[in-house]
Amino acid sequence: MMTQASLTIGEGVALISVERPEALNALNRDIVDQIDVLIDRVAEDESVRCLILHSDRNFAAGADIKAMASCDEEGAKAFCFSPTYNKLTRLSVPVIAAIEGYALGGGMELALTADIRIAGESAKMGFPEVTLGIFPGAGGTIRAPKLIGEALAKELIFTGDPIDADRALSIGLVNKVVDDDQVLETAMKMAKRIARRGPVAVRMAKDVINRGLLDNNVEKGTELEAEQWAKLFNTEDQKEGMKAFMEKRKPEFRNR
Ligand code: CAA
Repeated sequence: MMTQASLTIGEGVALISVERPEALNALNRDIVDQIDVLIDRVAEDESVRCLILHSDRNFAAGADIKAMASCDEEGAKAFCFSPTYNKLTRLSVPVIAAIEGYALGGGMELALTADIRIAGESAKMGFPEVTLGIFPGAGGTIRAPKLIGEALAKELIFTGDPIDADRALSIGLVNKVVDDDQVLETAMKMAKRIARRGPVAVRMAKDVINRGLLDNNVEKGTELEAEQWAKLFNTEDQKEGMKAFMEKRKPEFRNR
């Protein structure tokens, strides 16, 4: 297995990065399994006060379409990233997503597991799944409405259109927009500020906020989402949508 996800820890800040530039950091099962192991290492390391998720140039252009294209319902379940993504939400220390370039589909959903999002000016974010004949299957249908409200989340999920950093800021999808070359530095500075605060208080604040806002249906919601999402891999439209992506043409959906 090729190592494509890495972890560095220093000055109380952990950094998880994906390196698959040839596919715009699209996430496959191996990479998500590697991230899963790294999250456990972060959780066990008492020196860590904050985690940053950041990858060079592109945050992640989604789940790996080429690997998923021919999956049936059972096979699609292997592409359900929610168990790992939910671990990030449950992580006791704050998580910051530092977003350069594309954060689409499963990449956007990874960014949504973070407590805080910082984007570069050229960031493009959204849920293109419906252009492939599927819908977001890694927490997007639960976390996006919670964060930006039902109507805006539905607009993004139903149209599949990506939005730029300024719109993301205006709807509260990201906390801050900075120059592209300042994304990681800005996240680092914020993480180090958090790292200097009372660690027990920060952890407890995250836990209390999450319990009030999230826990009542994130786990249940992602189970239902994963179940319905995998069923789409029995449809002709999913096969056509992903085939069209690989053939670099527009899909012809037949509503079946
Ligand atoms: N999966 C697999 N490969 C991908 C990929 C993905 N999600 N995104 C990009 N790539 C590959 C491309 O196929 C291409 O590979 P080749 O050089 O072998 O052709 C390479 O990365 C570079 O991409 P493009 O040539 O397409 O680059 P571009 O600048 O013209 O376009 C883009 C960039 C608009 C992001 C386009 O790549 C794109 O639309 N990607 C797919 C985005 C997407 O639909 N993501 C959602 C995936 S489904 C999902 O995430 C399910 C879920 O709920 C978990």
